[in-house]
Amino acid sequence: MSLRCLQNFPSHYWKSYRSMRDKFYKCPLEYDIGEEAFQKMVVDVLPKQESLKTLGIGSGQGELDCINMDRMLTRVSHIDNTVVEPSLEAMDVYKSLILGDLSDRVTTSWYQETFQQYQKRRGSSGSTKKFHFISAVHSLYYTGKDGSIMGYLIDLLEKDGVLFIAIQNDESGFTKFFGRVAESYGPLFNNDTQGYTTSQVAKLLDADGRVTYNVLKNRHNIDITACFEADSSTGSLLLDFLAHIVDFTSTISKNVLESLLDYLKTPDCSEILSDGRIIFHEDWDVIIITKN
Ligand SMILES: C[S@@+](CC[C@H](N)C(=O)[O-])C[C@H]1O[C@@H](n2cnc3c(N)ncnc32)[C@H](O)[C@@H]1O
Repeated sequence: MSLRCLQNFPSHYWKSYRSMRDKFYKCPLEYDIGEEAFQKMVVDVLPKQESLKTLGIGSGQGELDCINMDRMLTRVSHIDNTVVEPSLEAMDVYKSLILGDLSDRVTTSWYQETFQQYQKRRGSSGSTKKFHFISAVHSLYYTGKDGSIMGYLIDLLEKDGVLFIAIQNDESGFTKFFGRVAESYGPLFNNDTQGYTTSQVAKLLDADGRVTYNVLKNRHNIDITACFEADSSTGSLLLDFLAHIVDFTSTISKNVLESLLDYLKTPDCSEILSDGRIIFHEDWDVIIITKN
C-alpha cells in the first residue's frame, strides 16, 4: 500500500490528534498561555474599539479560540470571527461551542477548507478585509513551504493587531522525530508540510521588519508507552500523528519502523520513567506578534 500523508485525510488526522491529546501527562489540555498573560500581551494591546475582527487558521475544535474570544469580549462588545479549518468534524464541534454563551456577541464566517484555498479565493474575490487578531495554533506547518505565509499574515493584520502563533521549537521531540521521518519519506510531504519551528518563524519575522514579538516557552509531556505495545490501536494512532503518516506501522518497512521506534525512545525525543512508562517531550512556544 502506498504511503499517505496524514493531513490529506482530515478525518483520520483528527482521530490521531485526539489520541495524542488524550495522552497529555500531568499537564493542561489546551495550548493556552493563561488568562493573565493573554490579558497583558494581547487584550491590552489591541485597538480600543467596539468590535474586533478575528481570524483562526486551523482552529480545529475551537476550544482555545473560544477561551481567547471570551477574554477579548471583556473589552469589546462584538467579534466578527473568521474560521478556516479543513476538518468538517472539528468544525462541527467548534460550531457547537459558539452556540453556547458566545452566540450573542460573536458572528462567525466558516470556511471548511485549507488556508491555501482560502488565500486563493480571497485573491480572486479581491477581498481587502484585515484582522485585529489572527491565531495559528499548531497549524502553520501545513500552510506551504516557502515561508511566504508570514508576510501574507502580517499583511492581513490591522495596525496594532496581534498574530498569535503556537509552534514546536527546535528542542521538541516532535521536531526531531518528524525530522527523522522526513529523512526517509521527505517527498511524501513535499507540497505542503514544512517542519516550521520557532527559530524559522523568528527569522521570517526579523526579515519582514514590520512587527515586534515575544516568545513564551512551554512543554507538554505525552505518555507514548502504547506506541511500543504490540497490536495497540492507541499506539498506532499516536504513531500516525507523530510521523504524520496514515497507518504508519502497517505501511512502512519493518527495518525503518524499528529504527524510528528506537529513535523515539532516545533522550532526543523522550524519557523513560522508573516504572517503564515512556514520556515524549513536546516543547512548543507561543509567539505573540504585534504589527507596529
Ligand atoms: C495540530 S491541529 C491544531 C488544532 C487547534 N488549533 C488546536 O490547538 O487544538 C492542526 C489543525 O490544522 C488543520 N489544518 C491542516 N491542514 C491545514 C491547512 N492547510 N490550512 C489550515 N488548517 C489546516 C487541521 O485540520 C487541524 O485542525
